[in-house]
Amino acid sequence: MAGMRLDGRVAVVTGGAQGIGRACCEELAREGARVAMLDRNAEAGEAAGRALQEQKLDVLFLQADVTREEDVAAAFARVEKRWGAAEILVNNAGGNTYYDPVRMSGADWDAALGLNLKSAWLCARAALPGMTGRGAGAIVNVSSLHARMTARGMFPYAAAKAGLIGLTRSLALEYGPAGVRVNAVLPGWTRTPPVEAWLGRNGHPEQEERRLAAVHPLGRIAEAREVARVVVFLASDDAAAITGAEIVADCGLSAKYAGQEE
Ligand SMILES: NC(=O)c1ccc[n+]([C@@H]2O[C@H](COP(=O)([O-])OP(=O)(O)OC[C@H]3O[C@@H](n4cnc5c(N)ncnc54)[C@H](O)[C@@H]3O)[C@@H](O)[C@H]2O)c1
Repeated sequence: MAGMRLDGRVAVVTGGAQGIGRACCEELAREGARVAMLDRNAEAGEAAGRALQEQKLDVLFLQADVTREEDVAAAFARVEKRWGAAEILVNNAGGNTYYDPVRMSGADWDAALGLNLKSAWLCARAALPGMTGRGAGAIVNVSSLHARMTARGMFPYAAAKAGLIGLTRSLALEYGPAGVRVNAVLPGWTRTPPVEAWLGRNGHPEQEERRLAAVHPLGRIAEAREVARVVVFLASDDAAAITGAEIVADCGLSAKYAGQEE
């Protein structure tokens, strides 16, 4: 097998049952890592875990809602018991939220930030003692292009994903001396179930995708696997000199100055 850059390393991926998270589980395992796939959706997680095991990949599904402290603690304890402390953590669980800033309730804010920001800190808190104990570790936070530029109606998501960049930098400073690197990936439009559902919302998914593709310098949106390859790079020793950084994977969308035609 080509690469095996992560031979035997223990990785935890949150929100791993589908989309970018599932692609991260697959690509990390293809590089030789032992991967714990955490997801709150047991049915999808078990099916995804089985499908990857059938490809002879070392992937273990663990049901966990990563917004719940007790679930996070239990999942990391199971990983440690089975394989030892995690050396790689991919904070991927997250999702879009659409709210009006005035009508949104405090409980909805807490839920949006809990999923898109606090969960990353909870998992980092669980992983860091093991990483510092080993004197090595890599955390990759899956943020979003919405950390830098956003759309109307998505304010708690944009706030949380920008917060995740701050968390990335802060943890990089705190834990660099202990040998732990912390970086962020900022995907743009990426083909995953929620994006496919969005493309199909008016019953013309192909037409919608052509329209969306046309605004991207590369003429297309990204595939989940392409984002996962950036995650693998940041998790690997190939990125040994990189910490506190943000890598955009958006098929060129954010390089474009809006307002002018082609
Ligand atoms: N798809 C895109 O275009 C895109 C763009 C930018 C950023 N992102 C980010 O990438 C990440 C993955 O996005 P995706 O499109 O693959 O999402 P997705 O909805 O396809 O998958 C998310 C997974 O996370 C799981 N999950 C949700 N809440 C959870 C929780 N509390 N605990 C555990 N698991 C939970 C879901 O069950 C699901 O399996 C998210 O953080 C998202 O914000 C996606």
